[in-house]
Amino acid sequence: RRLVVLVSGAGSNLAALLAAHDDASYGARVVGVVSDNPAAGGLELARAAGVPTAVVAPRDFAERADWDRGLAEAVAVFRPELVVSAGFMRILGTAFLERFPGCVLNTHPALLPSFPGAHGVRDALAHGVTVTGCTLHVVDAGVDTGPIVAQAAVAVEPDDDEASLHERIKVVERALLVDWVGRIARGALTVEGRRVVVR
Ligand code: GRF
Repeated sequence: RRLVVLVSGAGSNLAALLAAHDDASYGARVVGVVSDNPAAGGLELARAAGVPTAVVAPRDFAERADWDRGLAEAVAVFRPELVVSAGFMRILGTAFLERFPGCVLNTHPALLPSFPGAHGVRDALAHGVTVTGCTLHVVDAGVDTGPIVAQAAVAVEPDDDEASLHERIKVVERALLVDWVGRIARGALTVEGRRVVVR
């Protein structure tokens, strides 16, 4: 299954997917990596792995909707069967989602519906939860609101700050992402309302 990964930052989730795809039985191959940020570390990881990359920066577009369409064009070049947003810090618009219906996933470092948005780790810590975690979900037009594929819990330690907690979440998040992207790539994902079934 042809997989395109969207990144904005370091790309540790991408690194985990690249490691997994080296095993031919994994079922998904990263065929392209696209970022909104020309300086994203994930782009270097892709290049080092010989995976083609593209950068679609919002500042190069007059309107938000133009950027969204430009992103969809850049991703479509790779003919993806699955698109994974892993540490991608932009909201995917309807033009993008209509281009890749039902096959865009996002990983979020909190137990949705708690703590959606760009600061899920910080918000969970500030709220004083003792358990947080990560969520893999199908992307819909909302912010982190799509049907949930899988979640994993992570304990918050008393001396945690945002960085230490996020690092601990990322260890679990990478494993969840690699596991479920593989299952979806080797099988099929269907969404019935809020229920996601992977067979
Ligand atoms: C991940 O925890 C992702 O869920 C969040 O930002 C982090 C990105 O990490 N949006 P990386 O770029 O994959 O290392």
